[in-house]
Amino acid sequence: MSIGPATISHAPGSDIALRTREIIAPYLALEGPAMPMLHAIQAAYGFVPSQSVPVVAEALNLSRAEVHGLVSFYHDFRNEPAGRTVLKLCRAEACQSRGADRMAAHASERLGITWHQTTPDGAVTLEPVFCIGLCAAAPCGMVNNVSVARLDVGRLDAILESVR
Ligand code: FES
Repeated sequence: MSIGPATISHAPGSDIALRTREIIAPYLALEGPAMPMLHAIQAAYGFVPSQSVPVVAEALNLSRAEVHGLVSFYHDFRNEPAGRTVLKLCRAEACQSRGADRMAAHASERLGITWHQTTPDGAVTLEPVFCIGLCAAAPCGMVNNVSVARLDVGRLDAILESVR
């Protein structure tokens, strides 16, 4: 009996599961491989797809809940795609003392979203970050991993204009 196309699984996510197995394979021999695996998956997809979670769980003999817990606990991981621009605003002490709250409130109001959300047009994801080593030039942030320092409302507005 031949196996025709109708018998081949096209279940959503099966490609992601296969690809996830390839992505995590180099990390299987590591001690403590869960985080490197999840970082590698996120590097490949821009987020950790839900279909990857059971693959990682099976590979590491963990429960799906444990892997899901890692993804949701560490803010570096996303469980859905980010916007075209990821704007991170520093929330740590030096930036707090130099107006970080005002920057965050302004960005949130301008974008109509709060932390870890993406604008409905997919343009911007707003995320907190905790010290990027530019405390002397606070308040700071990052635009797609490029540092921006000495933020004020005017600079922030210019950034937001340029990415929408
Ligand atoms: S506290 Fe914001 S860069 Fe250090």
